[in-house]
Amino acid sequence: MSDMALLFQERLGEAARSVEATLRDLLSADAAGDEIARPEHLLAAMRYGVLNGGKRLRPFLVLESAALFGDGHRPAALRVGAALECVHCYSLVHDDLPAMDDDDLRRGQPTVHVAFDEATAILAGDGLLTFAFDVVAAPETALADRTKVALVLALARAAGLGGMAGGQALDLAAERVAPGEAGVVRLQAMKTGALIRFACEAGAILAEASAAERLVLRRYGETIGLAFQLADDLLDLTADAATMGKATGKDAGRGKATLVALKGAAWAEQRLRALVGEAEALLAPFGPRGAVLAEAARFIANRRN
Ligand code: IPE
Ligand code: IPE
Ligand code: MG
Ligand code: MG
Ligand code: MG
Repeated sequence: MSDMALLFQERLGEAARSVEATLRDLLSADAAGDEIARPEHLLAAMRYGVLNGGKRLRPFLVLESAALFGDGHRPAALRVGAALECVHCYSLVHDDLPAMDDDDLRRGQPTVHVAFDEATAILAGDGLLTFAFDVVAAPETALADRTKVALVLALARAAGLGGMAGGQALDLAAERVAPGEAGVVRLQAMKTGALIRFACEAGAILAEASAAERLVLRRYGETIGLAFQLADDLLDLTADAATMGKATGKDAGRGKATLVALKGAAWAEQRLRALVGEAEALLAPFGPRGAVLAEAARFIANRRN
């Protein structure tokens, strides 16, 4: 492993530990602020769906994109990263429901609707999505109000109708009527890309970076977002459930619209390499400061789980 790959692993591990601790703290049993009470069973399901060892790549991207603009942004970036992880985990809890991908295994454990029940899984997702906006807006997130509003707006757009949720709807529709290549690219940019793009742009928003810097991070996020789902679709074909912590070999059987299905695995490998090159080129203006994010692009393309 190269020195940069080692540094990347170290920083990803450190981000995962910090975000895990933040999430544990945020999802404690005590009602916060104006909350009336935290029902034990629902809280348990939310904690089960979040505190279960994901890669925490999205919070890592928030932390690293913020770190491009100085070390002082880390406390706010950690809370924004934790909020984003809540949205991501909600999307996984709902994605696994019987009415959606109908999966029993996630992060190596029974999915939330299996460990609890379907109604609780739906509500745990609802709770996590809403909680994300609480975490960004709360006074403990020490940012100017206008900056919080910008983050709330960007996160809402990434998660909602024109982002992740919309993409999930297109993904399900595509099981019935197959879209062409452009259609698959668009649905993936929405269902997976939008949250990853937000992760990268969030660092620039919270650090109040220039519009030009924000745009670079947005483009970088779009590029690695495409790579991320392409790698996920390849891994569905090539990896086993024990390594992935989730069922594999399911996309083809369910008639999922993926680029791997449309263009083949060899094409996908080549496209992944091209996307890494594009991500590296986009980061050039940041010079050596962009090295960890460039390594993140390589990790996403080459990941094995
Ligand atoms: C899985 O995301 C869902 C997709 C968007 C493909 P991750 O691979 O980041 O899952 P965790 O968070 O590490 O479990
Ligand atoms: C996930 O896509 C996209 C989400 C918004 C959760 P997949 O359905 O391919 O993700 P996995 O393979 O179940 O993690
Ligand atoms: Mg799905
Ligand atoms: Mg799925
Ligand atoms: Mg998948």
